[in-house]
Amino acid sequence: MATVEIKNLRKAYGALEVLHDISIEIADGEFVALVGPSGCGKSTLLRSVAGLETINGGELRIDGKVVNDLAPKDRDIAMVFQNYALYPHMNVAANMGFALRLSGRPKAEIQERVGKAAGILDLTRQLDRKPVALSGGQRQRVAMGRAIVRDPKVFLFDEPLSNLDAKLRVQMRAEIRELQQRLGTTTIYVTHDQTEAMTMADKIAVLNGGTLEQIGAPLDLYRSPANLFVAGFIGSPQMNFITGDLAEKAGATTIGVRPEHLAVSHEGDGWRGRVISAEHLGSDTFIHVEIAEAGRLTARTIGDMPVAAGDDVVLTPIDGHLHRFGANGKAL
Ligand SMILES: Nc1ncnc2c1ncn2[C@@H]1O[C@H](COP(=O)(O)OP(=O)(O)OP(=O)(O)O)[C@@H](O)[C@H]1O
Ligand SMILES: [Mg+2]
Repeated sequence: MATVEIKNLRKAYGALEVLHDISIEIADGEFVALVGPSGCGKSTLLRSVAGLETINGGELRIDGKVVNDLAPKDRDIAMVFQNYALYPHMNVAANMGFALRLSGRPKAEIQERVGKAAGILDLTRQLDRKPVALSGGQRQRVAMGRAIVRDPKVFLFDEPLSNLDAKLRVQMRAEIRELQQRLGTTTIYVTHDQTEAMTMADKIAVLNGGTLEQIGAPLDLYRSPANLFVAGFIGSPQMNFITGDLAEKAGATTIGVRPEHLAVSHEGDGWRGRVISAEHLGSDTFIHVEIAEAGRLTARTIGDMPVAAGDDVVLTPIDGHLHRFGANGKAL
């Protein structure tokens, strides 16, 4: 177990500056999710912590110790990648024990550690099998097992579930979170999937173009996004943004309102408009409405909402749920 401190980290590939002055502090046992659009530098940041990239500035500390100049193997971290290529010719036990064998641990110790990890991951009965004879979720667990057996101070995950189908992803994200809590290992977890980040992480760090936009507890980011970028990135369907007169009346350059904070009715006070389309998902209905003074807005309502394209409706923002942003994009 350990803290991780990332301080004023900078990373460039030649002339291309990829990470600008990133600072993140991670407490012992904390689970931090790194999210952001493709190419924003998530993997680069993770690989920098792992020591797989040399950094151009700043300081990295693991458990209080500066690791800038330590080789990856001396940083006491274990990384799980998206393409967790298992060795096809080795069985599960050999795959899981590989790193330990490489570092010359005694056979009995390897067996014990692999056995323990297999127990934790519910892979005891698969230890003799080759990867080809495993399900996707079991393979994913073997990849986790390779990380666990080393009993590292820090787990680093780079989109470990993106190769799995949607249902397995949901199951595995719960498993990984439970495991992480049980082991209490400090974790940095990169994901594209904001639901994954929201449900798994103690804190979410939002990166954009190599800059840290905001870091905080999932619901804090959801309720109080610091700027337009975070407001638009966290939440699905995304927050509606309105500029022009309506925003000016609220003393802002842009106002934002989440789809679930727009009440839909057929009459009354509010923003009048016409339904362009309605998506009936069973559990929810997403209604897309064209409002003269605000453009196209999305509202989220109950599953059996009787509404269809062409209907005239009134959208009313729920009190206390309007977000206001200034000309620089920052929340007011
Ligand atoms: N070895 C490299 N040499 C040069 N540029 C690189 C290298 N690796 C990454 N980059 C660039 O650095 C930027 C950040 O890449 P990175 O892989 O960290 O993004 P990411 O946030 O992980 O994206 P994704 O979500 O698509 O995995 C990108 O512009 C990428 O093209
Ligand atoms: Mg990446």
